[in-house]
Amino acid sequence: MTDFRFQADSLTCSGIPLDQIGNQYGTPVFIYSAQVLERNISVLKSAFETRGIHVSYAMKANSNIAILEMMQRAGFGVDIVSGGELYLAQAAGFEGNDISFAGMGKTRREMEAALEANVAQFNVESAFELEMLNEAATKSGKRPEILLRLNPDIDAQTHPKITTGLRENKFGMPPEEVFQHFVDREKYPSLDFTGIHCHIGSQILKPLPFMDLVDYLVNYTGNLGKAGARLTKVDLGGGFGVDYKTPFRDILETTPFLGEIAEYASEKLGHYQLYIQPGRVLVANTAILLTQVIGLKHNDLKTFIVVDGAMTDMLRPSLYGAYHALIPTRKRSGKMTVDVVGPVCETGDYFAHDREISTVLPNDFIALGSAGAYGYVMASTYNARPFAPEILIQTDGTVKTIRKRQTYADFLALNS
Ligand code: LLP
Repeated sequence: MTDFRFQADSLTCSGIPLDQIGNQYGTPVFIYSAQVLERNISVLKSAFETRGIHVSYAMKANSNIAILEMMQRAGFGVDIVSGGELYLAQAAGFEGNDISFAGMGKTRREMEAALEANVAQFNVESAFELEMLNEAATKSGKRPEILLRLNPDIDAQTHPKITTGLRENKFGMPPEEVFQHFVDREKYPSLDFTGIHCHIGSQILKPLPFMDLVDYLVNYTGNLGKAGARLTKVDLGGGFGVDYKTPFRDILETTPFLGEIAEYASEKLGHYQLYIQPGRVLVANTAILLTQVIGLKHNDLKTFIVVDGAMTDMLRPSLYGAYHALIPTRKRSGKMTVDVVGPVCETGDYFAHDREISTVLPNDFIALGSAGAYGYVMASTYNARPFAPEILIQTDGTVKTIRKRQTYADFLALNS
């Protein structure tokens, strides 16, 4: 199912031409489909929740309050990685009980805020964090549940910058160390050691790494149990990928194996309360970034299409060399091979190199696909470019601004 489609040569969302939104709200602008988000939520619910695996949305992928509220209404928990995310999660209506706190460098102040909010679990990534959290918990008179993040050294077969489960990565702790902490848990009387957490990477498009993870954990948790640990929870992390080449593809066409993974995990580890923490798969295909062509320039090697969106709005191409589809919103005949670049004073400010797209003219709009995850949240105001607005096309077809464009005056708001 997709809500973004061509109608009469014009790209639309819920039947509304994107050009119309571009003209009305200005560009660059993020445009979200509530229908696609509802679809993704319902697919994850039926794959996982029906098998007793609780979905905890990794809000780092997109923390717009309207999106968070939809996740909250769906009954999902939320996975946070900072005090700021805690604040937003609470603003969206999540209770402490719905929140798990991951992140490999929690500050003392963030720990205190999370204890105060009674977050359900802390996913702990290092020995120093155990010390700090134990101290903070003792002081607060609470005894939080903790899951130790284990780095299982499983290759997620994805982009090196978003692989997290290898020994060389900074995340988690080696299996031997996690084991030892469980053995030594009496050293931390204010922490309730309840489980294991793993996250092997992101943008994973094959079921096998997850099956390997489950197999690994069956063995590992079994050994921990034999050593006397009383585990009740296993968190398998997130990482399900999306199809950046075909951005309007349905979630089940790209990741048809979600149910299979859930089945496998619940069969093998169902004696624990299981969790997953998906981010990208829930939100990436729900949005496009709409940008307008400022002009075209040519040299003997290239044609550059200069658009008003930039790395400040969508950093992924610049940071990871990531591919995002570029779809001119109006069908014209002919094709051109171009570099699509933003106005920022950086060579790295580009959306595509040597990409064949259908012909565009100045003032045409181009939609950058799969912009709902790691888009707005990674934006910056470099070159004093305001944050773009976010527009939601609701399921009843009405258009709602879910975040306004930042103004120039906002740039001065924090000055003193
Ligand atoms: N859980 C943990 C502990 C994580 O570190 C992450 C992502 C997730 C869950 C959610 O992963 P997802 O389901 O979204 O793959 N900015 C990069 C992605 C960084 C992911 C970091 N951790 C990108 O734009 O590709």
